[in-house]
Amino acid sequence: MKTTKIFADGNLIVGRVRPTLYGSFIEHLGRAVYEGIYEPGHPTADADGFRGDVLSLVKELNVPLVRYPGGNFVSGYDWRDGVGPRDKRPTRLDLAWHTTETNEFGTDEFMKWCKKAQITPMMAVNMGTGTIGDAARLVEYCNHAGGTTVSDYRRANGAPEPYGVKYWCIGNEMDGPWQIGHLTAEEYGRKALEAAKVMRWTNGETEHEAPNGKLKLIVTGSSSHEMKTFPEWDRVVLEHTYQQVDYLSMHRYYEYSKEDERPLEDFLGAADDMGEYINTLRATIAYVRARVRSKKQVHISFDEWNIWTQSAPRTEPLWEKAPHLLEDVYTFRDMLVFAGLMNTLLNHCDIVEIGCLAQLVNVIAPMMTEKGGRVFRQTIFYPFKYLSNNARGNTVRTFSDSDAFATKYGEARFINEAINFDPTTKTLVVSLCNYAQEQRGIELELRSFGGLKPLEYVEMTSEDLDAVNGFRAETVAPHAKELPHIKDGSRIALTLPPMSWSYLKFSA
Ligand code: AHR
Repeated sequence: MKTTKIFADGNLIVGRVRPTLYGSFIEHLGRAVYEGIYEPGHPTADADGFRGDVLSLVKELNVPLVRYPGGNFVSGYDWRDGVGPRDKRPTRLDLAWHTTETNEFGTDEFMKWCKKAQITPMMAVNMGTGTIGDAARLVEYCNHAGGTTVSDYRRANGAPEPYGVKYWCIGNEMDGPWQIGHLTAEEYGRKALEAAKVMRWTNGETEHEAPNGKLKLIVTGSSSHEMKTFPEWDRVVLEHTYQQVDYLSMHRYYEYSKEDERPLEDFLGAADDMGEYINTLRATIAYVRARVRSKKQVHISFDEWNIWTQSAPRTEPLWEKAPHLLEDVYTFRDMLVFAGLMNTLLNHCDIVEIGCLAQLVNVIAPMMTEKGGRVFRQTIFYPFKYLSNNARGNTVRTFSDSDAFATKYGEARFINEAINFDPTTKTLVVSLCNYAQEQRGIELELRSFGGLKPLEYVEMTSEDLDAVNGFRAETVAPHAKELPHIKDGSRIALTLPPMSWSYLKFSA
């Protein structure tokens, strides 16, 4: 059996994990909103129509922040359609997903849901059909106390206090020709700069102190590193906006594609590839920072990431209300890659401060509902749940002698790990993917944490890489393992089953 040595020292820290790294995303797409978080009349729905069964799984996932309302949807959305008396709200064609939007759910409902779920909202403004004025007015609607037509309208709509929304995405995937109102980098950079300026002014950010604190603005970066415009798009956009924004966004979905030459290896290469992608944008940010002579550091908001079989054909008819779109059922294989992507985000937490698992329910999501009925946890639910609840504090730098395999992206490691230490709870968490087809030995040497004591050890394995969960059974789930022996308080020997994800927790 091949053995990989992994060494970590508590003094060598990558960075602090912001809770926002474990964010997610709700778009007006398919059944994410309708029949997802919102379904009046569902047996578990509350007086506002929010599904209680979904809310309790969201709590189990420990998601601190949710991005809304899109996604591609936002680039054709007039936020005014979604506020005010329900019977007066217009029904519109949604040109992003070719569905019909009833606007029964809008900004005020989302804010209410966030409050109930104890979640920080992250709003996106329309940079496609929308103007910088529309964006500023939405900031006014959400954040201005009162005394203006727009803010008094919010008050009349049942929210006397401003929402104080802090995180704002300036558009979505504006580099993509699929986007409503797609722009060039120059055009978007200019527009985003002006939008940022007026959004900040509306928030009261002048020489006065803003009543709700400063906005955290996210400028749209590349939709994927496979875009022809990557990374030039990011450079140009940042050169326009660097001084006005706090984050550059990144998006990336990976897919198991039988069209690939080596489908399994290429898919398993995703985690290391995502790291390369982040490193390129880290360098781009550093370059622009030097070029514009700035002292401030722009960080990354990885506000769409997941596995998504984009090649799956659409079967639902056009212009349906809340059709079954993008309802990927995740396999065990998807879970393995997903866990590796989470490790990558953790290992780059010094630059990636926000992450949004896209999406939260039904649409490429960790949970799936039936109308009027049940909800189940997908395979990918579990790594997210374990890491979001436990991999806190700091990510610790790891040194590994893992061997590698060839993928379409370049080399990828067989053993993919992340180690986190939370100094406040004095807990240490290890997440390990074994991407080899045979079992592998691991020698962990975890120095400078004080004597370690094992608290928890779970593992996800399956003989069938295509295994999935469903409403009847959640068979792909972690199982508990016997706690490992710790030598000299810091050395641990493990055996990882072929193609598996393991999670260990220690007290220090
Ligand atoms: O999350 C699904 C879609 O993926 C989003 O609407 C878009 O931003 C991305 O292309």
